[in-house]
Amino acid sequence: MVERKDKDAFDHLDPFRTINPPLHRASTVLYQSYEAFVEADQKPYHGKLYGTFGSPVQLELERALAELEGGYACRACHSGFDAIATILMAFTKSDDHILVSDNVYGPTRDFCDRVLRKYRVEVDYLPPNIGADVAEFIKSNTKLIYLESPGSNTFELQDIPAVVEVARAKSIVTVVDNTWATPLFFKPFEHGVDVSIHSGSKYIAGHSDTLLGVITVNEERFDELHTFYESTEHFASPESCYSALKGLRTLGVRLDAHQRSAREIATWLEAHPAVATVIHPALASHPEHDIWRRDMTGASGVFAFILEQDLDRAQISEFVDPMQVFAIGLSWGGFQSLIKVEKVTDRVHPFRLRDRTIIRLSVGLEDVEEIRTDLSDALDRIA
Ligand SMILES: Cc1ncc(COP(=O)(O)O)c(C=O)c1O
Repeated sequence: MVERKDKDAFDHLDPFRTINPPLHRASTVLYQSYEAFVEADQKPYHGKLYGTFGSPVQLELERALAELEGGYACRACHSGFDAIATILMAFTKSDDHILVSDNVYGPTRDFCDRVLRKYRVEVDYLPPNIGADVAEFIKSNTKLIYLESPGSNTFELQDIPAVVEVARAKSIVTVVDNTWATPLFFKPFEHGVDVSIHSGSKYIAGHSDTLLGVITVNEERFDELHTFYESTEHFASPESCYSALKGLRTLGVRLDAHQRSAREIATWLEAHPAVATVIHPALASHPEHDIWRRDMTGASGVFAFILEQDLDRAQISEFVDPMQVFAIGLSWGGFQSLIKVEKVTDRVHPFRLRDRTIIRLSVGLEDVEEIRTDLSDALDRIA
């Protein structure tokens, strides 16, 4: 008989201490004994049963994020979108009705329209600056209100405390996509929100090389989320969790720099003759600026502007293609400045920016003068 050597294979590494947690790549997890296996099998989600129930680095990331957001517990997913789909499925069933703010991330809307509706979940959209008026949209079967404040392309803010007050009185679950503000600038649980999700692919990981989503819940909603999460064997890859945990260590200093540069560029753009409107929650000109001041402690580096003259496709190419600092790309929140130009056409409610070309910037960590020069040259090209 071959002697089993795997039992103690890693014991000699125990005293090997590191600042960051070790990364385990595992499908199979080994047990010291049958009793240890039976114990793990009874409670799969401990990072101890099998790779699809999370790994130690995932547990460490979840612990850190729950603490940072002030929630009860956190669960990690493959991507921000996966986190969104997970909560929308975990908290709804056929014949429920949900309310979704009109400025949500496009694929969130697509999921509601194409998937939830297929399972007979009724979906209505809310004006993106909704507050206590949400009461008018609630039906007897409303189960969940989904908010994104500010919305990632058009940056309207919802009055979250006012929405929460109405929802709580009717035991409706409130969810906020908190990706823009990050766990540092908005604390959803202090404002009574039940569930907060983030695309960890953005500021949390911070280097545009990671796909990750996180869901944090209060104690009241934990069981419902956890049952769905565990039953569907959601998890995040150890590499992504490690990368996000590393990102968390520098989130504060990175955000300080993103915030400073973005505000400087936004203020400069606001005074530029070619620019009609700058849409940045920290500017006094933003329609919901007072809500931002009241509820948030900072602004990240993503905002948008609209030109006096609307651009056709050739002009957009002329504006964007020769840029030296800004790259054309989608997933914001990294060190590299990104630009995205689009018309927003998917709104249900009257929309003051409908059919206007919106130029969205994710201001990165480059020298702010180089960022300004790049934009100034682009504006000169289409003058
Ligand atoms: C506000 C917001 N939420 C969620 C997501 C989805 O995140 P991910 O790209 O990690 O799936 C995005 C992606 O752009 C986003 O902008």
